[in-house]
Amino acid sequence: MTPTQTPANHSHHDRPGHGPALGDDSNLAEFQNLDGVLGAPVLAAALNAAAGALGTAPRTVVDLGAGTGTGTLALTLAAQFQNAQIHSLDASPSMLDRLAAAAATADVDDRIETHVVDLDGDWPAVLPHEADLAWAALSLHHVTDPARVLSQTFEALRLGGVLVVTEVAGVTTYDPADLGTGRAGLGERIVGALAAHGYPVTADWTIALAEAGFAPVERHAYTFTASARTTDGARYLALQLTMSLARLTEDLSADDLTALDDAITALVAGTSEVVMTSGRFSWIAVRPITTGSNQHDTGAPGDSR
Ligand SMILES: C[S@@+](CC[C@H](N)C(=O)[O-])C[C@H]1O[C@@H](n2cnc3c(N)ncnc32)[C@H](O)[C@@H]1O
Repeated sequence: MTPTQTPANHSHHDRPGHGPALGDDSNLAEFQNLDGVLGAPVLAAALNAAAGALGTAPRTVVDLGAGTGTGTLALTLAAQFQNAQIHSLDASPSMLDRLAAAAATADVDDRIETHVVDLDGDWPAVLPHEADLAWAALSLHHVTDPARVLSQTFEALRLGGVLVVTEVAGVTTYDPADLGTGRAGLGERIVGALAAHGYPVTADWTIALAEAGFAPVERHAYTFTASARTTDGARYLALQLTMSLARLTEDLSADDLTALDDAITALVAGTSEVVMTSGRFSWIAVRPITTGSNQHDTGAPGDSR
């Protein structure tokens, strides 16, 4: 997922307004929710890997940067975690309001506690006791001091507790590469121009997790796909490309901007057949049961790619 900066309004673009209007956080919230729907296979695989690493059913779970609750709800609803109490942490009250509403709708609100906290602050103080599982999906790259957050997480987990970190990985590709517009290479130019702005944020936490003391650290690679042939995929791509359009008004040629606007129009109209593919990494990192001066030397980071 792209970072959570509020996208700039693109009203200065000369063909505005065929895509979803941006400007409040409701589109970002919808984008997060759709990311969770389309990323459900990744989520399920990460949940399974976490359950396997834990061995026993967790009682206390902390969701770091919980957003609208994609991870919190999946954790609450997963059979392996049905007795867990989830503490959902986020700096955004409005995201947590959405999470709480979704939890009430799913009738799992009695197992979820939301906390408005800054992950760069003393967030472990809100936890009643040690956590069995920590979950940080698409959030660690947002914090100012990830190493500090990883150390805090290490300390907040019980011995043998597990941290799952997920981030966007790899290169985004579009098929067809012209997004159905006839502008050859349009997708690559969008991806290249966004990369120059630092989007999407990708990060490899393998070494940082080991340095925080986690062992073993396993990295799993997954494919994330959004197809315009599905309603959710078309809406996701319309939101994503509308954010891209807003970011790239100074970077793409006028013809490319017009073609991008046309691609969004086709997505909104339901006539697009674009498929976007990107990647996700999930790390399963364990707080070792044995402590001691050599803990950093045991269990060098594994890689399950
Ligand atoms: C991209 S969203 C991911 C949300 C959710 N984990 C998911 O997988 O859909 C990142 C979330 O991290 C939150 N966040 C960013 N920086 C934060 C900070 N310093 N403290 C707490 N939350 C933060 C944002 O408010 C946002 O909800």
